[in-house]
Amino acid sequence: MTNMRVVSGIKPTGNLHLGNYLGAVKQWVAMQDQILSQGGETMYFIADLHGLTEWIAPADLRANTIEMTATLVAAGIDPERSILFNQARVPQHSELSCLLNNVARVGWLNRMTQFKDKAGKNREGASVGLYDYPVLMAADVLLYNATHVPVGEDQKQHLELARDIATKFNADYETELFTLPAPLVSQAAPRIMSLRDAGAKMSKSNPSEQSVVKLIDSDEVIADKFRRAKTDPDLLPETWEELGSRPEARNLVTIFAALADRTTAEVVAEYAGKGFGQFKPALADLAVAKLGPIRDEMTRLLADQGAIDAILERGAERARELAAPLLRRAQEAMGL
Ligand code: ADP
Ligand code: NA
Repeated sequence: MTNMRVVSGIKPTGNLHLGNYLGAVKQWVAMQDQILSQGGETMYFIADLHGLTEWIAPADLRANTIEMTATLVAAGIDPERSILFNQARVPQHSELSCLLNNVARVGWLNRMTQFKDKAGKNREGASVGLYDYPVLMAADVLLYNATHVPVGEDQKQHLELARDIATKFNADYETELFTLPAPLVSQAAPRIMSLRDAGAKMSKSNPSEQSVVKLIDSDEVIADKFRRAKTDPDLLPETWEELGSRPEARNLVTIFAALADRTTAEVVAEYAGKGFGQFKPALADLAVAKLGPIRDEMTRLLADQGAIDAILERGAERARELAAPLLRRAQEAMGL
């Protein structure tokens, strides 16, 4: 088997929280370490062009790109061993997307469920960029001949489209230029719920401050949010299954397990017979121990935005070296 090249894009978001960390960032770090240890290559890009599909203030987009980069590096993405860059700095993404727009079919894009979800009733008022976003996404990975692309449930259809575009390009222009990227299915990422309402996802749009642990929260604030998290008065049972109808308890055990790199079954077994009066302080300590150093490193990095910019520029330089010859070959195949 040829070496794996994994390419993964991350939309720039600010105000990152524990759900983003455990559900996304920590997974990318684990993936990096696993792929690199197998002799593969990892590329991570901040998808700032994708950030434009819905209006965002320019200063916010810029700040989010910097914050996302600082978070990834603080959490363990190594810009020496992985190629870490922002999409806009590698113009070949846009150029290939422009070429692939002539390969993708309107009917294919019309079937994309994410566009329907995001545009909602206002389809006519949605940007063309939102509609065309899956073609840019195809360019993002085909540009590097990615062998594997990590995809969650919501992105499976887009990866399928990228494969269709690659297949049609290769057939239409009698070439074998593009590699068909395979989905990389990692172990299911935990879904973290609000600390005040376990029926809702932890999210930056959550109305209550107490319900969301932010990555920039101080140790005191992190601990306080966990100590005051909503729970029930019952003791922890012997097994994870017995927590079935206790959403708050399940959420806190899920968070504990994810932070400690243990299974939920192990965590429940350890605390069996104990109440949340004991469990929550232990979780607070664990969270401070795991999140505190990431926050400190993020803060250190964010104090020197020139250094973050230099990381992105160096990554973009490496990405352009890979992208430029492939784009040239695509142009040649098409007669340009
Ligand atoms: P938000 O819901 O706060 O707007 P985003 O939609 O920007 O977060 O999500 C960015 C990434 O973080 C995505 O990969 C998403 O799946 C992940 N993520 C967001 N919230 C959670 C959560 N509560 N639990 C697990 N993963 C999450
Ligand atoms: Na969201």
